[in-house]
Amino acid sequence: MSALQDALLKRNGKVPRYTSYPTAPHFSAAVTGDSYTSWLNELRDDASLSLYLHIPYCRQICWYCGCFTKATRKYEPVTTYVDTLLDEIALIRARLSGRQTVGHIHFGGGSPSMLSPRDFTRIMAAIRQHYVVDRDAEVAIELDPREVTEAKVAAYARMGVNRVSLGVQDFHEHVQRAIGRRQPFHVIYDAVQLLKSYGIDEITMDLLYGLPHQTTTDVEENVDLAAALGPGRIALFGYAHVPWMKKHMRLINEDALPDGAARLKLFDAGAGRLASRGYRSIGLDHFVRPTDEMALALSDRTLRRNFQGYTTDTTDALIGFGISAISALPQGYAQNTLVASDYERALAAGQPPVVKGRATTRDIHCVAGCLYRHRQGKVRSDSRSRHPKSMGQGLRRLSRCRH
Ligand SMILES: C[S@@+](CC[C@H](N)C(=O)[O-])C[C@H]1O[C@@H](n2cnc3c(N)ncnc32)[C@H](O)[C@@H]1O
Ligand code: SF4
Repeated sequence: MSALQDALLKRNGKVPRYTSYPTAPHFSAAVTGDSYTSWLNELRDDASLSLYLHIPYCRQICWYCGCFTKATRKYEPVTTYVDTLLDEIALIRARLSGRQTVGHIHFGGGSPSMLSPRDFTRIMAAIRQHYVVDRDAEVAIELDPREVTEAKVAAYARMGVNRVSLGVQDFHEHVQRAIGRRQPFHVIYDAVQLLKSYGIDEITMDLLYGLPHQTTTDVEENVDLAAALGPGRIALFGYAHVPWMKKHMRLINEDALPDGAARLKLFDAGAGRLASRGYRSIGLDHFVRPTDEMALALSDRTLRRNFQGYTTDTTDALIGFGISAISALPQGYAQNTLVASDYERALAAGQPPVVKGRATTRDIHCVAGCLYRHRQGKVRSDSRSRHPKSMGQGLRRLSRCRH
């Protein structure tokens, strides 16, 4: 174990954990729908756009889930939500000059795979009606393998989906039982075959480490099984156990969770096995084939991290649609309301449903960039660099920031 790992473990639980920056607690009500509207108005005509659409519904809640979502057995609330989402897509378009082009579209959740083929098609058709979408735009969707059907995959292919991420987490029954998500291997295998048969072969698989009862052998086997299905990317996320924020996590037996040192061993086992299977490590939690465009973006320093994780997206502005969605514009960050009734009310009144955010300051750019470069081991520490010389200096600068 390195001295740094040792020092961090001694402070286990007392160090901040950033997977994106700035984080939600940095947002305030100073950013409103009006500020967001003026930011949109100011976007250059030649700016490129990335669209994120949040689908906050699932059939049932997995006990480990940290996402912003809600269980629904009935489908009607989803269709009603899609109706409002279409209003938002049209409303935001009216705040733009309309000449910007869309290079990336990402459906996240929750479970976008809950969308019926008809509703998915309605959303994509509205995007294409209101925005100019690049011919080679990346269109990505997060899928729960248990919900993948041929009718849905056909709709994805027809509407231009070219990348999917599949929630796998852990292939073992004893772990699946402990996290409230039963998903036999053949379900994931069938989903992959179906997607490939429709020409959707850019696949990311999400694995988790740090789950209850999980052993290092389990994590290694998870990597072996995932790699056998041939995804270009594998994400190995550390399970974040936050029962005080997500009450359903109380269903997880905390005695069966690994401590800090055990988590580190699980991650090392997974990362080692990923390396031996030919996957290259990308920063915090992503592993990709060396020919994947993410590996190439890392080499030529164009790789970025946004609220969904690492991305090759180099567009100028990220526009978030849906409850809780976050937009990232050159002028700052804006987050939509988390309350369904407020979301509907704002859009019925013709207002963007933004309730909070953070205007960008030079320090935020600087510290976010510095943290990212430190992760990559690529920070410049010479005196001419405008980046802080150390992580500590960066954080001190941020704490002095009063914007
Ligand atoms: C929006 S979710 C998954 C998409 C889809 N609903 C599914 O479950 O297959 C995206 C990913 O977040 C990760 N995730 C969910 N809860 C987490 C937690 N508490 N800690 C770390 N990662 C988590 C999982 O790996 C999951 O696949
Ligand atoms: S992990 Fe996916 S399916 Fe499970 S509750 Fe979270 S978003 Fe829904």
